[in-house]
Amino acid sequence: MKQGAAANGSSKDRPTLLPHAPDELTRGRLRRLGEGIGKVVYASDHWVVRRERSGTEIMALIVVWKLIRKLERVLPGGAADRLLAHPSRQIRILRVLMQALVLIVPRGLWFASHAGDVWRVYLRRDIRGEKLAAQHLRGTPFVPLRIEFPPVRVAVGGWPGWLTVSEAVERVEATLHQRLVELAREGRFGEIEKWLDRLLELRQEGWKLGVFSMDAHLKNFGVTGDRVVLLDAGGLTDRWAEVEGRLSFEAVATQPHIQLGLGGVLAARPEIAERFDQRWKAVVNRERVLSHWPEDRLPA
Ligand SMILES: Nc1ncnc2c1ncn2[C@@H]1O[C@H](COP(=O)(O)OP(=O)(O)O)[C@@H](O)[C@H]1O
Ligand SMILES: [Mg+2]
Repeated sequence: MKQGAAANGSSKDRPTLLPHAPDELTRGRLRRLGEGIGKVVYASDHWVVRRERSGTEIMALIVVWKLIRKLERVLPGGAADRLLAHPSRQIRILRVLMQALVLIVPRGLWFASHAGDVWRVYLRRDIRGEKLAAQHLRGTPFVPLRIEFPPVRVAVGGWPGWLTVSEAVERVEATLHQRLVELAREGRFGEIEKWLDRLLELRQEGWKLGVFSMDAHLKNFGVTGDRVVLLDAGGLTDRWAEVEGRLSFEAVATQPHIQLGLGGVLAARPEIAERFDQRWKAVVNRERVLSHWPEDRLPA
C-alpha cells in the first residue's frame, strides 16, 4: 500500500487514491478500536475506518459529560474521573438514554444551551482541523497515511453492524496515552520521558508548518515505530491570534502534565512530572512558537 502512495507521488493535499479498498477491510468484521466525542473508530489489522457520530449522539455525549462533571462534587473521590477515563459500558448506556431525551426536547433549546455552545465549538474545530491537516500535514511523517477508494460496505462490531466507507487511515500501534500507561505499569519511566520528548518535537514540526494544536491531549496522538503522529486533527489552527490566546492560558497553567492526561501515569514519580512540566513550559510558550512560526502567517 505504501509503495502505491510513493508511486502515485500524490501531492500533499490529495489523498492516495486506490482502485479498490484493501481486502482486509472487507474480509471480516472490523473491531471497535476507539472513540472520541465525534467519531467511532473500527480497525482491521493495518487500517482504521471512522464512523462520524450524528448530531444528537454528540449532543447526548456532551450532556452526559457535563452531568458527570457536576456529579464529581458529590461522588466519592476519583469516581467521576474513572468514569470519564474509560468510555465504558456505563457511559454508553447513559449516552443512549440521553440521546432519547435529546430527541424529545426541542432542538432550539439544546442549541441555546451551554451544551449547544460546546457542540458548535467542537464541530467548527473539527472541520477546520481536518482541512488544515489536509493542506499542511498530509503526506508528511507527522500523520498516519490516509487512503481513498470507491465506496464499500464493511461489517463492524456493535451497532449499526455495518458502514459504507471510502477512506481509511493507517492503524497506529497505540495511542500515545495507551503506550504511556503500559510503560508506567511496567515501570519503564525512561522510555516515557523519551516519548514525551518526541511529542514535543512533533509539536514543533507542526509549528514550522504553521499549524498549532489547541487540543493536545495524549489520546489524540498515536505511536507507530519510533514516531509520534497526530491522530485527531480537530483543534488545529493556523490563526496566530488563537495560538496566542491558547499560549497565554498555557503561561498560567502550573501542571501541564495533568491537562495532558498524564496525572495517573506519573502519579508515582512526581520528580518526572515536575521535570516534564518544566520542559513543556520551556517549549510551549509564545517566544518559542514564534521562533518556528512562518513569518508570512503572522498578522501584518
Ligand atoms: N489511525 C488510528 N489508529 C488507531 N487508533 C485510532 C486511529 N485513529 C483514531 N484512533 C482511536 O480512535 C479514537 C478517536 O479518534 P479521534 O480522531 O480522536 O476522534 P474524535 O474527534 O471523536 O476525538 C482515538 O482516541 C484512538 O483511540
Ligand atoms: Mg480525539
